[in-house]
Amino acid sequence: MNDTDHLVALDRQHVWHPFTPMKQWREGTPLVIARAEGEYLIDSDGKRYIDGVSSLWCNVHGHRVPEIDQAIRDQLDKVAHSTLLGLASEQSALFAGELVARAPKGLDKVFYSDAGATALEAAFKMAVGYWHHTGRPKRTRFVGVTGAYHGDTTGSMSVGYSDFFHKPFASMVFPTFWTEAPDACRPPAAVAARVRPTSSTGGLWPSEDPALAAAMLEHCLADLDGLLTRHGDEIAAVVIEPIMQGAAGMICQPPGYVRGVAALARKHDVLLIADEVAVGFGRTGKLFACEHEEVRPDILCLAKGITGGYLPLAATLATDRVEAAFTGAIADRRTLFHGHTYTGNALACAAGRASLALFEQRGLIARINASAATVKRRLDALRDCPHVMDIRQRGLMIGIELCKNRATREPFESAQRVGAAVCMAMRPKGLIIRPLGDTLVLMPILASRPEVLEEMMNVVVRTVQEWSAGLTRRGT
Ligand SMILES: Cc1ncc(COP(=O)(O)O)c(C=O)c1O
Repeated sequence: MNDTDHLVALDRQHVWHPFTPMKQWREGTPLVIARAEGEYLIDSDGKRYIDGVSSLWCNVHGHRVPEIDQAIRDQLDKVAHSTLLGLASEQSALFAGELVARAPKGLDKVFYSDAGATALEAAFKMAVGYWHHTGRPKRTRFVGVTGAYHGDTTGSMSVGYSDFFHKPFASMVFPTFWTEAPDACRPPAAVAARVRPTSSTGGLWPSEDPALAAAMLEHCLADLDGLLTRHGDEIAAVVIEPIMQGAAGMICQPPGYVRGVAALARKHDVLLIADEVAVGFGRTGKLFACEHEEVRPDILCLAKGITGGYLPLAATLATDRVEAAFTGAIADRRTLFHGHTYTGNALACAAGRASLALFEQRGLIARINASAATVKRRLDALRDCPHVMDIRQRGLMIGIELCKNRATREPFESAQRVGAAVCMAMRPKGLIIRPLGDTLVLMPILASRPEVLEEMMNVVVRTVQEWSAGLTRRGT
C-alpha cells in the first residue's frame, strides 16, 4: 500500500466529511491534499491543482505566504493561546484596533469567535440582548432573506433555514420572518408577472437586466417595508449578506438594495446585521461589501478571509450603542455571557494582522478589481451558450448557472447533479471548483497571478463549452 492508498483507507474508515453524502464518498477515491504553493493545492501524488474555491472561500493571498507564515512562527515563539476571559492579549488588542480602523466607521467594538456561524450567533445574542436591556424585550425575532445561508449552528440555521439541509432539525430552529431575495432567475412572482427575465442567447444575463433589477429592487424593499410595518415590534434585527448572497447560489443584489435595506432598518428602528463572512476581506472588490453602498450596519460579522485563509477566527463588530446596552453595574446583570475557549486566539490574530498588512503592501484591492475585469471578459465567451442561464459576478465571487434550455429557462433535474459533473470534468485539467446545485462557483484566490487566472478561465470556459456542445449534439 503506498502513502496515498493508506491515507484514503484511513479517511474512508474514520473521517466524516462536512456536507458530504458519505456512502457515495466512500465509494469514490478522494484527492488527498498534502501540500500547497501559492494558488495551487498539491495532492499526495504530487499533482497540482488551482485552488478555484479558495479552500472554501477563505484564502486571500495564496498558500504558504512568507509574511503570514513568519507572523505565525514569531507568535509561536511568544504564546500560542491565552484566554480572553479575565485577561487581555497583545495580538487580539492590536488586531481589534486594526479591524476597527478599516471597518465602516462607528463599528468600534470587536467580539472574537472562531467560525462564521459563531460570529452570527454572537450577533443574534447582541441584537436580542440590546433590546432586552433597552426596555423592548419583545423584540426577539429576526428577518432573514430567502435562500440565505449563515452557517450550521442552531441560530444561524434558523435565519438561513433550508428544507433541503435542515428538515430533520426543523424542531430545533426558532421561527424567522422571511423577506424575498432579489433573485434574477427566480424573481418574486409579482415581479415575474410584470418583467420576464431575459432568456435569449447572446443577450444580457438576467442578473444584468436593468428593468428586472429595478422591478426587483422596488418589490423586495416594499416587501421588507411591509414586514417591518406589520411586525416591527417583535423584530430585533434584519440579517443580510450584502451585495451577494453566496451559498444561496451567488445571488447578486441590484444596486441600491443594501442601502435600501439599511434605510428601512433605520426607519423601523430595528438593528441591521451584515453577514460579511463570505463577502468580506476584498472578495467583492472593496475591503468590506457594505462599502459599495456606504452602509454602516449595527453589527458586522466577519470570518473566512479574516486570517487570509490560515486559521479559524471570526469577529463580530458592533457599534458603541449596541455594546453600551451590555454595560452597567454588576447588579444590573447586563453582561454578555457568551464566548468560546479559543476566543481571540493569538496565532490566528497574528495571521489576521499579517494578512491585513498585505492588503495595503500589495495594493490588493486594485489587483482584485483588475482580476475581476479579466474574469468578466473571459466569461463573455459563454454568452452564446444555450446551457448557461445566468452569470453573476461581484468582484471575484462568481456564479455560472447552468440550465437545460436557456430559451425556456428549464432547469436540469436536481438528481442529475449536473453542476457536480461539470466541476469534476475540470479536475483532470488541474482545477478544483465546487458547485451550488447547478451553479458553478468560481472563487479564485484573491491575489491570483494574472497567468494563473487565465489558466483557470481557460479550463472553465472550455469545459463548459465542450459539455454544452456535447448536450446539443445529443439533442438535449
Ligand atoms: C455568508 C456566510 N455566513 C456564514 C457562514 C458560515 O461560516 P463557517 O462555515 O465559518 O461557520 C458562511 C459559510 O459559507 C457564509 O457563506
